[in-house]
Amino acid sequence: MPEWHELPLRESDPDIASLIAKEKHRQMFGLEMIPSENLVSLAVLEAMGSVLTNKYSEGYPGKRYYGGNVFIDEVESIARERAKKLFRVSHANVQPYSGSPANQAACFALLDPGEKLTGMSISHGGHLTHGVAVNFSGKYYSSAPYVTSQDGWLDYDLIEEHAKKEQPKLIFCGATAYSRVIDFKRLGEIAQAADAFLVADVAHIAGLIAGGAHPSPVGHADVVTTTTHKTLRGPRGAMILCNGNPSDPLKAAERSKENLPTLIDRAVFPGLQGGPHNHTTAGIAVALKEAATPEFADYAKQIVRNSKALAEGLLENGFELVTGGTDNHLMVVDLRSKNVAGKEAELLLDEVGITVNKNMIPFDPRKPYDPSGIRLGTPLLTTRGMKEGEMTAIAGFIAKTIEKRNDTAAKERVASDIKELCSQFIFYA
Ligand SMILES: Cc1ncc(COP(=O)(O)O)c(C=O)c1O
Repeated sequence: MPEWHELPLRESDPDIASLIAKEKHRQMFGLEMIPSENLVSLAVLEAMGSVLTNKYSEGYPGKRYYGGNVFIDEVESIARERAKKLFRVSHANVQPYSGSPANQAACFALLDPGEKLTGMSISHGGHLTHGVAVNFSGKYYSSAPYVTSQDGWLDYDLIEEHAKKEQPKLIFCGATAYSRVIDFKRLGEIAQAADAFLVADVAHIAGLIAGGAHPSPVGHADVVTTTTHKTLRGPRGAMILCNGNPSDPLKAAERSKENLPTLIDRAVFPGLQGGPHNHTTAGIAVALKEAATPEFADYAKQIVRNSKALAEGLLENGFELVTGGTDNHLMVVDLRSKNVAGKEAELLLDEVGITVNKNMIPFDPRKPYDPSGIRLGTPLLTTRGMKEGEMTAIAGFIAKTIEKRNDTAAKERVASDIKELCSQFIFYA
């Protein structure tokens, strides 16, 4: 008889085991098109489910507040070295618990409470943590968001003017719902002219950058924050990357560009967090090793090819896209031409097995909880092995579901076609 702690989950906790099995089935037999989601390898899952979760290790490799960290130090050092090499920076902090705490750490490192920051408005594609009033970033700092052009493009002249007028100490760039290439070089020039720190939050596009499918902000941004679980295809976690090297250790707390590594490390711990999640750190290390392979570079490029094919298919089916198309892994569909709102479209697509999220479009006349658009992306389906042909078929499924929303039999046919398609691309057996 196994001891209590040796029982498999299905015996020790059948309720949770059964829900995990159901969620796995849902992930395999539906089309997950939320652009911030992905499927990790079994190796990443194994690292995440390892005994590293048992260990406390406040501090950093070689400087811990707990004993017994000889192997944890090695794991974290490997993760840091891989991150530095992949993104070509001199410093990487792999401890932030997730993307939001990473952005909080960047603000904590670079600003005093009440100082001004600017980021892309959330209703134009920016993230909650880039200065939204209900978030720490808009509550503890003075926030003056910038907006896109009327048709949804980043307008760099407008951002430059905005920075001159507002004189922020920190400029966030990077987005959660922007389908075009971001000109980090220009943003770097704007930040330099405004004497502001530039923080590039590449959470969405980190995998594209790693795989050479989007330009890198390194060399233009002072600090780069990213989640590790989106296009980068790692566990839920985050990293903060920067360059710098304090010349005088006694002055390492001063807010200068040379001191960025010290400022960032101190902001993460002890500034905001306690013990790092070592099992996640191990998963990040594994994902970074995967992301450095030629296969991953092919994957990143296929994400974009799939995204363009999906966008093309939607346009052919009479949909309108914010900015008219995509250069990356996602697109925002403006549903007004189809006389359906974002919330209803999300529910309709859910019924047939397509998971998307409702999304604001720039200058949306509707409210955030029921906006005019939906956001779609291809990272996860690309991981499953789908290619342009499947994307064209999926565009057709989306069109049929929305156009025949009152025809139950038609929707059932789409749902059955989707199950059939999914059964050809099972990722976790
Ligand atoms: C651009 C961007 N930054 C940060 C985050 C926050 O990441 P997390 O949800 O891990 O806190 C997100 C999440 O969607 C994001 O899109």
